[in-house]
Amino acid sequence: MNDPVLRLSAISKAYNPGAPNEVQVLRGIDLAVAPGEVVALVAPSGAGKSTLLHIAGLLDTADSGTVEIAGDDLTGQSDRRRTAVRRADVGFIYQFHHLLPEFTALENIVLPQLANGVARKTAEARGRELL
Ligand SMILES: Nc1ncnc2c1ncn2[C@@H]1O[C@H](COP(=O)(O)OP(=O)(O)OP(=O)(O)O)[C@@H](O)[C@H]1O
Ligand SMILES: [Mg+2]
Repeated sequence: MNDPVLRLSAISKAYNPGAPNEVQVLRGIDLAVAPGEVVALVAPSGAGKSTLLHIAGLLDTADSGTVEIAGDDLTGQSDRRRTAVRRADVGFIYQFHHLLPEFTALENIVLPQLANGVARKTAEARGRELL
């Protein structure tokens, strides 16, 4: 098998740790996804799917365990580095929300490219191609 594009090792996560309303959501999760592999995460509501995806996508951090993307161990990396990797290497497609309603569909696609240093014309051409 090719080296995984995503590797999660021994991921654990609790919300409100130490408080009476502590919820231990993830306990020692391992997951490896190969290039081109399609994976569906299926579990009952509240099982921790979103929590796991937020950690895999570098939006949230685990209490323990490691997150590697394309061979880079991003555990404990700075917010700036995690943001750069998220912008370059991770894509989220939300079902209902998180588009910017003040902008057109094309502008929603162009904006993150501009943040990544792509020239406006190039970003718009790529945006049109994707749409
Ligand atoms: N920010 C938070 N603070 C406290 N508890 C939370 C928080 N986010 C999620 N939880 C709890 O953690 C558990 C896992 O939630 P999560 O959203 O990851 O589940 P899910 O599998 O994505 O559920 P769904 O299928 O409904 O989207 C649930 O018990 C939820 O109530
Ligand atoms: Mg969810």
